[in-house]
Amino acid sequence: MGTTEAQVEELIAQMTPAEKAGQLTQYFYFGLPAGAETEPALGLDVERHPRMVESVLQEGGAGSLLFVTDPTEINRLQRLAVEGHRLGIPLLFGFDVVHGLRTILPVPIAMAASWDPGLIERAQSVAAREARAVGIHWAFAPMVDIARDPRWGRIVEGAGEDPYLGAAVAVAQVRGFQGREPGAPGRIIAGPKHLAGYGAALGGRDYDEVSLSDSDLWNVYFPPFEAAVDAGAGNVMTAYMSLNGIPATGNRWLLTDVLRDAWGFEGFVVSDANAVRNLVTHGFAADPSDAAARAIGAGVDMEMAIVDPAYEHLPEALESGATTQQAVDASVRRVLEAKIRMGLFDTPYVEEDHAREVLTDPAHREVARVAAERAAVLLRNEGGLLPLDGDKLGSIAVIGPLADSKRDTLGPWVFDHDLDETVTVLEGIRARAGEGLRVAHARGVRVVQRVFPSMFDMFGGNAPDDPEGFDEEAEFKRAVDLARGAEVAVVVVGEWQNMIGEAASRSSLELPGRQLELVQAVVGTGTPVVLLVMNGRPLDLRWAVEHVPAILDIWYPGTRGGAAVANLLFGDVSPGGKLPFTWPRTVGQVPMVYAHTRSHEPENQPRRYWDESSTPLFPFGHGLSYGRFEYADLAVDQPAIVTTGTVTVSVEVTNTADREADEVVQLYLHQRHGAASRPVRELKGFRRVTLAAGESRTVRFRVGPKERRYWNAAVRDWVTDSSSFDVWVGADSTAPLATVFEVKAE
Ligand code: GLC
Repeated sequence: MGTTEAQVEELIAQMTPAEKAGQLTQYFYFGLPAGAETEPALGLDVERHPRMVESVLQEGGAGSLLFVTDPTEINRLQRLAVEGHRLGIPLLFGFDVVHGLRTILPVPIAMAASWDPGLIERAQSVAAREARAVGIHWAFAPMVDIARDPRWGRIVEGAGEDPYLGAAVAVAQVRGFQGREPGAPGRIIAGPKHLAGYGAALGGRDYDEVSLSDSDLWNVYFPPFEAAVDAGAGNVMTAYMSLNGIPATGNRWLLTDVLRDAWGFEGFVVSDANAVRNLVTHGFAADPSDAAARAIGAGVDMEMAIVDPAYEHLPEALESGATTQQAVDASVRRVLEAKIRMGLFDTPYVEEDHAREVLTDPAHREVARVAAERAAVLLRNEGGLLPLDGDKLGSIAVIGPLADSKRDTLGPWVFDHDLDETVTVLEGIRARAGEGLRVAHARGVRVVQRVFPSMFDMFGGNAPDDPEGFDEEAEFKRAVDLARGAEVAVVVVGEWQNMIGEAASRSSLELPGRQLELVQAVVGTGTPVVLLVMNGRPLDLRWAVEHVPAILDIWYPGTRGGAAVANLLFGDVSPGGKLPFTWPRTVGQVPMVYAHTRSHEPENQPRRYWDESSTPLFPFGHGLSYGRFEYADLAVDQPAIVTTGTVTVSVEVTNTADREADEVVQLYLHQRHGAASRPVRELKGFRRVTLAAGESRTVRFRVGPKERRYWNAAVRDWVTDSSSFDVWVGADSTAPLATVFEVKAE
């Protein structure tokens, strides 16, 4: 046996059942200030909880903590576990390093919109370096849930609707977090979540049940998870909801048959918060002891708990025979192996001075700025209003409350951020504006409050608010007057960051509050308008698309968001992002995806809703540029292949504009006939390229069995059909340039 195995077996042999249960328990440790408001559903007693956790540590009653990010505090708690208990097993510290720790990157949906796996890997390696420096060993990320219903708030945390893009983004994130080995300096364990199907919540309502066919699971919702596992992710987190009637956290088919047996996952599985105990709430487990036995039997190694973990009933379940020593030891083994892999037995503590140095590394802020620049999606640019000419412009009015909100610029799922370091859109424009360019700002409308408080409002500063004595009528008029007197009006609209993310579903996609009214009034002044959208889901822009010449989606752009937006507005860099989801006109069209199958009358596609078009406002993969790209000479290297064969598709892309710009070349495939009706188009290749003015480049894609196979519900297995395959290559999912190739049986 290697050192690792010997050490692990020795420890397991010494552990009592209670200590094993403790090793499989992860507690939240909220060092919240006394008196902080806590979300009542969390059942958290702010005073008692920290003290309770500390005493648990000294009894060997916890294997991991989450929600601690201060290196001094992490060392203090680690010392309690290592020096306070007879076995001295170090803690694994996990955290939601979803899009950065101190340097906040654009939200994940924005990074997906860059269609740039190299950038995403670089960005998450910055996040990993900062996390590891403070003593965090494990990120509860990437979130790889496919989202096809924008009412679901967690669409912001993932990579959108498409399994091919989602898988590429998942791999890039795992590589960014783990590098070659998560135990290496500056690297952490990646924990793709939430297995599985969470994004298909009924009605887009977070946490609600999910019903998905096996074909949906294997062809759409599983691929990003399988890709993350193939990339070596060390952990997976289970989902809250029930999948086809079986709670994901008690679902052995999902967590063992699929995850371990089919995909070969060798890491450890953690539940989502209280999700084991809540197997009772689901009406699945009879009581916490039953919940513990069924979760560990399904394949949940570690329980994430806020209070009253179900896994403290594991000794009872062992006693009653509801679970076995073998099952418990297998889970303990996987957790201990992760700790040894992270070097925690040799180096349990973190160097606090080094942490401070890493967290202030200016190179990290640069990565955040570049990420925000490459994530932005130019939705519309009629008449070439953008880029603005900073040398000629004399005045700009920047309108909207989001334009100067540091906290909203960062987006959801940030806790250890530095607002002083955060550059808002207004600050970015002011810093970039030349001497002769006056930049004025007005909020115009008040902040809209959610209909129920966000669970994250217990962390200070999470909920936006209006300035003292805010007079909306006066401010609205001031904003319109400013716009009227300026040469250009830049209006920032969107959702406040606590309106999206977890427990933040919406029943509409309209701009909250009086934002649309504000845009209409500003447009009514006749001043040219640039609309900037700060968002994480598609919003209802039907009016704006008809009346606003330039619309740039800037997402929640992160710590250097404002600097990136200014560079984009003034043309220092061209937008090159593409939409990672189909953008519906209205919530009534939801769900709307590009990879749908043909119906019996596709040519009447528009004849669906009598009151609204059945086409999207913007198609999947859409994104304009300051460059101009032409596609030509689309070709396949062989007109026909056998089912195991591979064709090479080539296309020539030319930038006919007078400036450098990026284009994301996209390849879509359609199987014309076969053992199932296949989607009219499916993304099966993409490449982001930078082309100088006038530059042409031949881009090649290989289309083999992996791109053509699909899971067939009739034979309940993967198949690759003989058929004719349409191929399109272009700038989005409606690309017109097409060719075809044949696949014949061997
Ligand atoms: C939350 C989320 C999960 C997160 C965990 C810890 O409820 O569902 O994504 O990682 O709890 O914060």
